[in-house]
Parts: sequence; structure tokens; C-alpha cells
Amino acid sequence: MAKICLCLTAKTLKRNLEILDKYRKHTDIAELRVDCLEPDERFLIRRFPEQAGMPVILTIRRDIEGGQFIGGESARINLMARGLAYAEADRRRNFAYLDIEEDLNVPSLEEAARTFGTRIIRSYHNIKTTGTDLSAKIRSMNRFGDEIVKVAVTANSTADVLELLRAGKECAKQEKILISMGHYGVFSRILAEQFGSYLSYASVLSEPDIFPTAPGQIDVQKLAGLYRFRSITRTTKIYGVAGFPLKNTGSPLFFNTVFGLEDINAVYVPFPTDSLPALMELANELNIAGLSVTVPCKEIIIPFLDSLSPEVQNIGACNTLSRSPQGWFGTNTDARGFSDSLLAFLLKTSLKRQRVTVIGAGGAARSVVSELYRLGAKALILNRTVYKARTLAAPYKFAWGGLDNRGIAMMDKYRDIIIQTTPVGMEGSDSDDSLYPSDVLHPLDVLYPSDPLYPLDPLPMYSFSGREEVMDLVYQREMSPFLKRAADAGCRILNGYDMLIRQARYQYTQFAGREFPEQLLTRVQFGRG
Ligand code: ATR
Repeated sequence: MAKICLCLTAKTLKRNLEILDKYRKHTDIAELRVDCLEPDERFLIRRFPEQAGMPVILTIRRDIEGGQFIGGESARINLMARGLAYAEADRRRNFAYLDIEEDLNVPSLEEAARTFGTRIIRSYHNIKTTGTDLSAKIRSMNRFGDEIVKVAVTANSTADVLELLRAGKECAKQEKILISMGHYGVFSRILAEQFGSYLSYASVLSEPDIFPTAPGQIDVQKLAGLYRFRSITRTTKIYGVAGFPLKNTGSPLFFNTVFGLEDINAVYVPFPTDSLPALMELANELNIAGLSVTVPCKEIIIPFLDSLSPEVQNIGACNTLSRSPQGWFGTNTDARGFSDSLLAFLLKTSLKRQRVTVIGAGGAARSVVSELYRLGAKALILNRTVYKARTLAAPYKFAWGGLDNRGIAMMDKYRDIIIQTTPVGMEGSDSDDSLYPSDVLHPLDVLYPSDPLYPLDPLPMYSFSGREEVMDLVYQREMSPFLKRAADAGCRILNGYDMLIRQARYQYTQFAGREFPEQLLTRVQFGRG
């Protein structure tokens, strides 16, 4: 089973030992990054394995590979030799592994390592790209049969991660460490077992002096706790969420908590993606059992599916994929999640005679509008891009307009309920997004607001009377600025969190083929980012 390797990057050995002690229960192997130690400390590494009390990898990474060692090669080799000599008969007192880059050719060092029972990790790094023919690379790197081959390459796309996964399968017999570095490859660190990787490197993101040694590295507590890394085997069912940038997704917390509480052999991981053809190939290669689909993929995923629920056909957006004997089946649980939430909030069973304004005409609005129609409401759709409001409104014979004074005037007849469906107001949530660096941009640079002037209120000119019932689909914050204004005016308000939980329960049913265990409801939550 794949192991968790904690990367120790503190400046002193003492501090590294403190960190190791604190996170010992999540750690199988420690990697001592000697290049991160203060120069004086580097001479004292020999006793570290004994002090650590667990297998330790000795690594002195050069700056060209993303490390901090800037001295010459002979100084580096000397340090490695110092770490190995003089070996003790009790192997637990020696370094268990020595990381040697594939282009470092020092037979005496390798010989010493072998004699002392220190296994060599023969490593190849590419901090820019993935490159091709990784299986040939893996094969060529294993010079002696007893080495562990490490290939750590940067994924710039989903196709890159797929390349590494396939190479791992082709070299199934080789003991190896495979990592797709960066945002796209984040799941390769969780699904190390599926990639055939000997271990997964983890960091501690909550300690100021410990830092990820490569982009995409996951916090050790998150890896062991949230993703239950140690329980993942080849037979574990894989679920996940696909989209981009998946910056604020709370779904892994929800689903993994349920799987954990139910003791189901399943894991739910993020699949940030730039390409749906590559994603679908990946889904087949990993035998993914089900996917939540989010921005920007809800509409463009439809042509890739084999059958669609009536909701998806009607709404034109799909947020749930599950495998059926006929292939991929697409459903939309947003719609029911929304209407269940709204009706529960209003204490109603239908929306007959209700006059509703919907702000926004994107994917989320489509689900909202179709449900409003089904429940008998009359609606006005207001959108920044007016023609989209018109297009959405037409089949339902709803009114439409822009986010302007004319639109606001039209609201006079549609203000029993106001539903805000745009992502405006989502920004500003204090999201702990350790997984996803905020500077990652989607190649299509779709819907995500990156403009610092991004408005926080979609309709700042509208004055609430205090009698409207207001729902905002934004869930990352307790109250978006729009919802706050409504509450201040005396309106009853509802944010998107309840809808999110409700749609996820439907999603669970779709994935697992049975009802959501309602008794667990109080014990699960969505991460708010
Ligand atoms: P989602 O699936 O979250 O609904 P979407 O389909 O991209 O995402 O829709 C985003 C909605 O938010 C659209 O109605 C969009 O308006 P446009 O159609 O004019 O693009 C709206 N939206 C996004 N940014 C906005 C902003 N800054 N101000 C007002 N509306 C905005």
C-alpha cells in the first residue's frame, strides 16, 4: 500500500524532529530535505534517522530541480557521504533511502548506500512540463533492479496527468514514485495507489516554516484525514468533482466524511480539468464511478454522455455523472436541490401566484428557472448580458431585462421572491485554499472573476422594501453583500448552503444507488472553501 512521506523543510534538525513528532501518526516515511537546513546543521544529519525513529529519506535537492542547494556538486556529494557514513549494524539508525538524481553518477556513493542497506531512489524531475514517453524513461532509469524510480513531472493539462498514469500502468512491476506536480495533478497525490506509486509526498501547511517542496503537495493531515489515504486500495471506488479552477469546492469534505462515517471503501477527489476528452479518458483509466461536475463544465459535458435524465435534457446542464451499464448517465441535482431548499424556506409546497425575480442567466439560473416554472411561479429574469436573459426566459414565457434601472422598474411586479444566481459576491470568502493556488488561470479563462474591481453586489441600485424573501445561491459566505443588504432592510434571507447540501444528498443517491443516510446529516458539512 502506498505510504505517506512527510517532507521536512525546517532550518534546523531540532525543529524537523518537533514537526515529525507532531504529525507522526500520519507519517510512514520522513524526507529530510538537507538543502533546506542551515549550513551548520547540514553537518549533523548523520544521527537524524535514529532520532526520527522511522524510515528517513536523505535528499539534497539542487536549485535547478526546485531545491535550495546552491553549492557545488562535490560539496553535495560530500554531504550525502556524510549522511551515510559510518553505517551501523542496526539499520534503523541509518538513512533508509537516498535520493539520487538520475544524472548524478557517483558509483562509490551508490556502492556505500547498497552496502549499508540504504535504498536508492533514482529521481527525475521536470519542473516545467511532463514530456512524453514516460514509460521509456521509467524503464531506462532503473539501472540496478533494487532501486525505486521517481518521476516527478509538472502537469500543464489533464492529458499530462493521463500520460503519467498510463506510464505507471505500463511499468506496473517497477517499484516507483510517480507525481504529477501542480494544480492539474493534485489527485495523483491522493490516488498514489492507482498510479502505482510507492509513496506520496505531503507537507504541513499550517506550520509557517514548513513549506510544500513542490506545487500541488497536499497537507499531511488533509491527505490522511480528509482523503483517508491509508484506506485507499486498488478496489476503492473513486468519485470526484470535475471543473476548473475548483477553487472553492467543498464537495470533498462532504462526500469523504459520509464515506468515512459509513465505512464505505470509496474516496472523493478533485479533478481540475482543462479538457473534457482527456477527463473522460482519465475517468475510464481510473475506473471512476461517479463525478460531480461544476463550473465551467456543466453544459459542455453533455455531448460526452451516453444517456441523460429528463432534467438534463430540459435544463441543458448536468452536474452529476454516474456509470450505468449503458455508459455515462448524466443527471442534474441542482434543480431539485434548489427547489427543495426554497420551498422549505418558504414553508410552501408550490409557487403558484408567486412573482419571482431571478438575477443571472447562466448555468445555475437555468436550473432555477426550470424549477420555478415547474412549481407554477411567474418570473422575471434580469441579466448583465440581456440577450441571455431573453433566451432563457423565452421557452417559459417569463419576463426578462437587464441589470439596470429599467430592469429594476420591472421588478415592481416580481418581488415576492428574489433569487440571486450569479457568482457575484462569492469573492471575499475567507477560503483556506491550500490545494489551489489563486494564480491558476483556466486556459479558457472562463467565468471566474479575477478582476480586483469585481463587484460584490449584482444589483446595487435596487432598494429592498423589506418584504421580499431573498435567496442567494452563493454559499461560500454566510451572507453575500447582496444578502446582507436584504437582511438589513428586514427581508428574510437564505444562502446557497442548504441547497448545496440538498443537491449533494441527491448526488449521493445517484452515486451510491441508495438513499442518503439522513441520520448522518448533522455530522457532515460542506467545506466553505
Ligand atoms: P453559473 O453556472 O455559476 O451560473 P455561468 O453559467 O457562467 O455560471 O453564469 C454566470 C452568471 O453570472 C451569468 O448570468 C453572468 O452574466 P453574463 O451572462 O452577463 O455573463 C453573471 N455574472 C458573472 N459575472 C457578473 C458580474 N460581474 N456582474 C453581473 N453578472 C455577472
